[in-house]
Amino acid sequence: MFENVIEAMVDAVLVVDVEGRVTLANTAATSITGYSQEELRLTPVAKLLIDDSSGLRTVVRRRIEEGDVMRREESWLVAKSGARVPVSITGSPVLRPDGGLEGIVLVARDVREIRSLLADKEAEIQRRTLAEDALRSAKASIEEQLDQSRASLLLAERRATLGTLAGGVGHELRNIAQIQVSAVDELQTALAAGEDVTALAREVIGDLERVAEHITAHGQRLMQLARPGPDRVAPIDLSAVVRDVIAMLRGAGKLRRVEVALSMTDGLQVTVNRTRIEQIMVNLVVNAVDAIGEDGGTITIDVQSGADPTRVVCSVTDTGCGIPADQIDKIFEPFFTTKPEDRGTGLGLPVAREIVQTYGGTLNVVSKVGVSTTFTFDLPR
Ligand SMILES: Nc1ncnc2c1ncn2[C@@H]1O[C@H](COP(=O)(O)OP(=O)(O)OP(=O)(O)O)[C@@H](O)[C@H]1O
Ligand SMILES: [Mg+2]
Repeated sequence: MFENVIEAMVDAVLVVDVEGRVTLANTAATSITGYSQEELRLTPVAKLLIDDSSGLRTVVRRRIEEGDVMRREESWLVAKSGARVPVSITGSPVLRPDGGLEGIVLVARDVREIRSLLADKEAEIQRRTLAEDALRSAKASIEEQLDQSRASLLLAERRATLGTLAGGVGHELRNIAQIQVSAVDELQTALAAGEDVTALAREVIGDLERVAEHITAHGQRLMQLARPGPDRVAPIDLSAVVRDVIAMLRGAGKLRRVEVALSMTDGLQVTVNRTRIEQIMVNLVVNAVDAIGEDGGTITIDVQSGADPTRVVCSVTDTGCGIPADQIDKIFEPFFTTKPEDRGTGLGLPVAREIVQTYGGTLNVVSKVGVSTTFTFDLPR
């Protein structure tokens, strides 16, 4: 019965006597070690067990001497081929009826499969760790690339902004030069005709002063491009600015074919840089004149307190050609123009919008082709 049980076990069973020799081995023991049962019989257990790491032989001997139960130990069985088979061993004493020690039963479980499963698991963990490391370093390098792209984008943006600003200043100087050219023209013509220019001089001198102010302010602005600082601002009456701009443009002969209707509440003050606001008005009115073209039309300028009473709203409406739907999103882009190269640079609107935005306002457009166009901006009071 006892032998049948031993035989049926999947684990290798070796019964060892007090001399340390195998007295009984089951089939599992023969198949693990490659020895026949006859060969195993009386073989010293020391020959079958390796104890370099666990000192198992010593342990077995001591257990045999002391008749103790041996708990699970990791060790190797040495096969006939010399191969080492990893096993997990437990040992129990076999006692004689008088209580004396007869030997020990060693049960060795073949752990090759478990080991290889464990090794697979470890390899898997190792592989995952490596993959995670690779992922981490890939992520780091992507972040680095992203930082670089961000930095170069910033640089490109700054360059584009500088270009646009420089273009904006050039644009304004060209606009304002036209006013001076026509004033000087008028004076020269009058002088050549031998007229008394006193009255005319009195009329144009204001325009020329304004032109000088603009040139100075824009010179300053060009210098600010290199070293930006705040614009000088002061409270001004928006309606007064509109009137001055209209007078200036009329003086320059820009308003010959248009009727200008003003619908303004006086005394609405905004705290801004006057030249900058004049620049917006000049741009909007010159655009309106261009849109009206040769046939003539009306420009209506409206300055009112906003629905929000802390804001002033100004709109410029013309009865010109209007803006087609497929262009309306583009007109605020720098360098978008539908005008001949010598007439338009496409900077008027983007610069005007930029100025309005620096004061915390917005500049928007509504247009109906062939009917009218209205540009509206608001500023804090
Ligand atoms: N009042 C308007 N009516 C119809 N189209 C307009 C009006 N204002 C602007 N546009 C359109 O928007 C474009 C861009 O205007 P923007 O003032 O930015 O540049 P521009 O007038 O073409 O050139 P620049 O102002 O630099 O001399 C114009 O070319 C025109 O097609
Ligand atoms: Mg323009």
